Amino acid sequence: MEKVILKKFNKLIIYYFSGTGNARNVAYWIENIAINNNIEAQIIDISKLKSRKSLKIHETALIGFCSPTHGFNFPPIMFHFLLRFPKSKLVGTAVAENKVFIINTRAGLKAGKYFLPGLGGMAQYFSALILLLKGCKIVGIHPIDLPSNWISFHPGVKPNVVDSIYKKRKRETERFASKVINGGKDLRGLKTILIDVLISPIAFLYYIIGRFILAKSFYASKDCTNCNICIQKCPIHAIKTIDNRPFWTYKCESCMQCMNICPERAIEAAHGYLFAIYYLITSVLIVKIYKLLNISEYLNNIFPSWLNNVFSFIIDTSLLLFLFFVFYRIFHYLLRYRLFERIIVFTSLTKFKFWRRYKSPKY
Ligand SMILES: Cc1cc2nc3c(=O)[nH]c(=O)nc-3n(C[C@H](O)[C@H](O)[C@H](O)COP(=O)(O)O)c2cc1C
Repeated sequence: MEKVILKKFNKLIIYYFSGTGNARNVAYWIENIAINNNIEAQIIDISKLKSRKSLKIHETALIGFCSPTHGFNFPPIMFHFLLRFPKSKLVGTAVAENKVFIINTRAGLKAGKYFLPGLGGMAQYFSALILLLKGCKIVGIHPIDLPSNWISFHPGVKPNVVDSIYKKRKRETERFASKVINGGKDLRGLKTILIDVLISPIAFLYYIIGRFILAKSFYASKDCTNCNICIQKCPIHAIKTIDNRPFWTYKCESCMQCMNICPERAIEAAHGYLFAIYYLITSVLIVKIYKLLNISEYLNNIFPSWLNNVFSFIIDTSLLLFLFFVFYRIFHYLLRYRLFERIIVFTSLTKFKFWRRYKSPKY
């Protein structure tokens, strides 16, 4: 059967997820290019989609997926969205396959006059693979390096740097958009495949550590006024109120929206607490549990040494995650006591004035 190649699309649909606005801005820049090319465009925030039923693959539409990179991968919300995305109905028909593009926004930085890129890891490859298996044709894979929003990890980027990164990346996005919207291909994201594959094991580790340990370091200090903005705006609905203060559940994907929009700057990341608890669990509690239950001896008697190591790793990790879970509840409870709250605040780097928050500019 001969395939009809679509030169231009009659519609552009972009599905995006964004914590602090970078990926959202990219989606709207591309929308503008579509409108300038007289193409109807629809931009959809996947965190606001009510049900999967509303998802449709339009046969003559160009479809884009745009999301930040979290721990060298797409955040779970985008990853799960891609897995649930309907299969292309065009496979084996006279019309060319559904054409899609993938954009991951990464942590762009600037040193002097040099723009530094972020690291995408598996973000684009996993998503490309899922979409290929669904019968789509990938016409664009492109990372866009916008200011890093990982402010539980480092202070927010200075406003003048944000501005210059934004100007540069907007032009880059527009060039990419013009190309794919007019029927071209841009797979520039594949250029870094070697380094991306090398760092991919960290993507797997981050999936566990990020969600079950790092995301469990958020808390609201005494400056919290219970305005509930963090709870209402959380795109994942991961924050709830427990003991009259915000509590971060395991759904939290560390998108950083809450920490950056809090009008009182009351949301912090408890660095001191994380280090202390990690030390307590790994150097004291797990050692004691092993001794008490004779775990090493038990494993030695049953398994060969290599399997023994695998089991020890599984037991250690499970204990670590379980104990972190228990301690986070205790931590949250103890925050009601002023002395404890003050100690936690003074050991949180995010409390210092130089630790800027990050909000993407409206471009
Ligand atoms: C928890 C977390 C993990 C991140 N991991 C990465 C990463 O692995 N590589 C990278 O280049 N940027 C990483 N970043 C930076 C963001 O991907 C980047 O700032 C992105 O542009 C934010 O987009 P948003 O404003 O739409 O949320 C991370 C940010 C957060 C909050």
